[in-house]
Amino acid sequence: MSDGGVIASETLLCAQSDVPEGGAVKIELAGRPPLAIFNIKGTFFVTDDTCTHGEASLSEGEIDTDECVVECPWHSGAFELSTGKPCGAPCTIALRIHRFALHDGGIYLLD
Ligand code: FES
Repeated sequence: MSDGGVIASETLLCAQSDVPEGGAVKIELAGRPPLAIFNIKGTFFVTDDTCTHGEASLSEGEIDTDECVVECPWHSGAFELSTGKPCGAPCTIALRIHRFALHDGGIYLLD
């Protein structure tokens, strides 16, 4: 029987304790582009890991925890982690951000 609701599938990405405060980790899942998880003062953000300007890994970028921004390690483009909006040249294409859930000490992808 169905109530017509949509049941989101959850995929465990990692433990919350795996992502250091002020840092990021890269997560690779089969069949999809790599993801980056950022920990900004205890608040998590999940985005695509690959910069929209090139092939750089944003989890290796410089993180500004006050501005909640990641700076790309290749050409210093930047993105707002909460929205994915580009906020530093040469990036002009938004970074994809992902919905997630936190429970039981884990970080779970919802899409
Ligand atoms: S690859 Fe990220 S700014 Fe160029």
